Amino acid sequence: MNINKIMVIGAGQMGAGIAQVCAVSGYDVLLYDANEEALDRGIKGIEKRLARDVTKGKISEDDKHASVLRIKKTASIDEAADCDLVIEAVVENMDVKTKIFSQLDQITPEQTILATNTSSLPITEIAAATKRPDKVIGMHFMNPVPVMKLVEVIRGLATSDEVFETIKQTAESLNKTAVEVNDFPGFVSNRVLMPMINEAIYTVYEGVAEPEAVDEVMKLGMNHPMGPLTLADFIGLDTCLYIMETLHEGFGDDKYRPCPLLRKYVKAGWLGKKAGRGFYSYT
Ligand code: CAA
Ligand code: NAD
Repeated sequence: MNINKIMVIGAGQMGAGIAQVCAVSGYDVLLYDANEEALDRGIKGIEKRLARDVTKGKISEDDKHASVLRIKKTASIDEAADCDLVIEAVVENMDVKTKIFSQLDQITPEQTILATNTSSLPITEIAAATKRPDKVIGMHFMNPVPVMKLVEVIRGLATSDEVFETIKQTAESLNKTAVEVNDFPGFVSNRVLMPMINEAIYTVYEGVAEPEAVDEVMKLGMNHPMGPLTLADFIGLDTCLYIMETLHEGFGDDKYRPCPLLRKYVKAGWLGKKAGRGFYSYT
């Protein structure tokens, strides 16, 4: 299966990062978002990051220019019709994702592979929204996409070996390492990471320590590059809550219960860095 043209759906922090690495690696990219402002912000972010890479000597001005030219923005999902691969990176919500996959199933030719960057939702359930579950797969990039080496690759129940191999090779062509894991809530990455973040939020909620102290303990004591609350703000507190809810619902175990403080912040619109306010203030 040859991949030349990729549509990325969702131009938020993940979608923009995925579009960037695909373009830098030579793929033609269509970036689509339902929100026009988000689309423009996504494109501007890519240009800014590539300009910084030129200043640092990581890529040449010519390569930056060629990469930017390879990315086209679009306000219509119908343009997926001539793409070999679609990577969906919209909000972590099953209803929104299944609606998009059902639409893509109508729009794209039968050989097009439909991948999701979901952090935690069952691939098999997303695939069931299409008539091609053999061509649906999880392709889970880490944030920030241009920096992090991992792509978790998750087969749904019906994903074919050929599609799995194609996605593994595509991830490697982006200079990433693909690791296969099975389709369970949160896969491996977020089943391990997110309960730690949730527990860090509980330590603030229960008055054990201030956010700064929790982060210092984990950075200096465990050598984590970011403390868990800084990381939660970076990921997005809405995304953290969706993931905890998926783990809680999927396993039915109280150890995955989202901390009430996390719920409160999300209700207040304190979604972390992208909203200017989370455990820390970014204004
Ligand atoms: N986008 C692109 N590049 C970025 C970036 C961003 N948002 N933030 C930092 N970078 C780049 C910088 O340009 C810099 O590049 P060079 O090495 O070429 O100079 C490099 O990253 C290091 O940046 P800094 O020196 O400014 O800062 P740092 O040393 O603190 O590193 C970091 C920043 C790489 C983000 C580091 O703090 C880190 O690794 N944090 C943890 C990230 C992590 O755990 N990610 C996984 C989140 S969970 C997930 O993604 C799964 C999920 O489903 C929720
Ligand atoms: P984000 O909030 O930054 O961006 C989401 C984008 O999707 C927004 O621009 C929004 O306008 C767009 N969108 C929403 N509904 C849409 C629709 N119906 N059609 C088209 N566009 C739509 O979110 P994000 O952090 O980039 O996360 C996106 C996905 O990636 C989620 O599934 C998340 O779980 C996953 N993910 C996130 C991280 C992270 O650290 N934030 C890491 C790995 C995976």
